[in-house]
Amino acid sequence: MGALTDERRHEQCSPAQLHDEGLKRNSRPPSSSLYRPEGREGRMKGGHSPKRCKKRCRVVACEEVSEYRAAVLALVNSNDVVLEVGSHVGGTTKVIASVAGRVVGVDQQPELVAQARQNYPEIQFENFDAFDSTKLVALAKSLPQRITKVCIDISGSRDLATVIRLMDLIDKTINPDIMLVKSQALKKMLLRARLWIEHPLNAKVL
Ligand SMILES: C[S@@+](CC[C@H](N)C(=O)[O-])C[C@H]1O[C@@H](n2cnc3c(N)ncnc32)[C@H](O)[C@@H]1O
Repeated sequence: MGALTDERRHEQCSPAQLHDEGLKRNSRPPSSSLYRPEGREGRMKGGHSPKRCKKRCRVVACEEVSEYRAAVLALVNSNDVVLEVGSHVGGTTKVIASVAGRVVGVDQQPELVAQARQNYPEIQFENFDAFDSTKLVALAKSLPQRITKVCIDISGSRDLATVIRLMDLIDKTINPDIMLVKSQALKKMLLRARLWIEHPLNAKVL
């Protein structure tokens, strides 16, 4: 089924499939033609490297907090360094910390970050606006290993344009393996989406 199936698979996969996908993506190289193994290996050992070749970041969309946390448990493992954007008082950050190698929560509201630090002193929380790309890159560079997964929750009801703008920024600056995005608008849009790709299956339908 090729590229079409591969691109669409995340939309409807079960938690078990998501889990397999998460593990597979941690253990084998993706098929992107832009991918160069030495780029990724170099980054894993030496932290953030601007020289590495970009690879495709996969997107997983969900809408409810229960889905968001279930997806975290299915996709994240102890090899991962995870950034949660919109960490609030740390509820989901704590769930991520239970399965990830490392997690950093970011929130733009200082009082929420203070509360999160009080709730979970063992977890790193930072206070800045995630649209500030300079701070985003500085945070990524400060970590000993590259950020492999980013969980985005700047409110599930946030408008699609803002969510996409943030996803694009994170893709360009951090380029994680997976972006898990809690957004009602994004999930609804992706459920209706189909990629136009020259593919025998599409030729039959058309
Ligand atoms: C729905 S709450 C997150 C809940 C949390 N992820 C959880 O599961 O417990 C959304 C959070 O996103 C934060 N936020 C919204 N826009 C942001 C931005 N541009 N940068 C950083 N944080 C942002 C808000 O301050 C708020 O705390």
